[in-house]
Amino acid sequence: MTRKRVLSGIQATADSTHLGNYLGAVRHWVSFQDEHDAFYCIADLHTLTVETDPAVLRRRTLATAAQLLASGIDPDKCTFFLQSHVAQHNQLGWVMECMAGFGEASRMTQFKDKSQKSGSDRTVVGLFTYPMLMAADILLYQADLVPVGEDQRQHLEITRDLAERFNSRYGKTFQIPDGHIVKSGAKIYDLQNPTAKMSKSSSSVAGIVEIMDSPEVNAKKIKSAVTDTGREVKFDEKEKPGISNLLMIHSTLSGKSIETIEKDFEGKGYGDFKTEVAEVVVEFLRPVRQRALELLEDEASLLAILHDGAAKARIVADHTLQATYKNLGLVQ
Ligand code: TRP
Repeated sequence: MTRKRVLSGIQATADSTHLGNYLGAVRHWVSFQDEHDAFYCIADLHTLTVETDPAVLRRRTLATAAQLLASGIDPDKCTFFLQSHVAQHNQLGWVMECMAGFGEASRMTQFKDKSQKSGSDRTVVGLFTYPMLMAADILLYQADLVPVGEDQRQHLEITRDLAERFNSRYGKTFQIPDGHIVKSGAKIYDLQNPTAKMSKSSSSVAGIVEIMDSPEVNAKKIKSAVTDTGREVKFDEKEKPGISNLLMIHSTLSGKSIETIEKDFEGKGYGDFKTEVAEVVVEFLRPVRQRALELLEDEASLLAILHDGAAKARIVADHTLQATYKNLGLVQ
């Protein structure tokens, strides 16, 4: 049986991914590589919808690539590349723009939210056509499965609609992708505000554990995490959101069950517990950060990995693009 094709993308909008990204997305990407034919791209063209200093964009793109590789994305098992290295994304993106209705694109909630925030004069057209480029990212590879977070559900819906519309007008050209909405089994919350998700839009950096932070900084963040009144180390999301979050982080990274950890800390205080959580986090991240730093130091090798990935991706992408053009009646 042939393996199912998986595709996902991530934007490079920060210098460091954080533990929430890792547990919510990257971990799933890593686990898909073994039994699926996985394609993963850094959606650097999508990042252009927000004006970014060129040096910063370049640095973040390479940093994101290095961190994904260091977290276990293995270029020998999957196809890992930058979206901008494969021109077919833009080419199919245009075709998708010609499939999408103005009204349906206007109804995309991310577009509505973001454009409302910045006002129409400061909203770029690329933000409007963002979902059509994302549809191209997915459809070029005939993906069966697209692991994404809940916030991307609507973009996946429009991708399926566009693919179905194209197929019914021009003959079967695209696989209709299924979403794999990652229900973060292990939801990680902000250390300073343990009822809000750990996210880079968080108001304070003290609440997020960043992969590229030094072990000292991350240990300090864990030790200063907001905890609750009381002194029992017990999982109780309602009454003890802070302690529950730390228990979840510990359990997910150490592989120990929550009950075992609770037992280990019977009769001990929050202080001892936090010290151990800090150790678990630091030891988990140490090799990841170390490897990412090594990759960044040897930029030529990092670029070679990305260029090899793009060469592999281009073969599949071009095959789909040529079939699309042919079916549309564009002269071959
Ligand atoms: N829009 C996605 C996000 O912001 C990133 C993305 C771009 C993507 N292209 C994709 C995700 C294709 C899945 C498939 O998270």
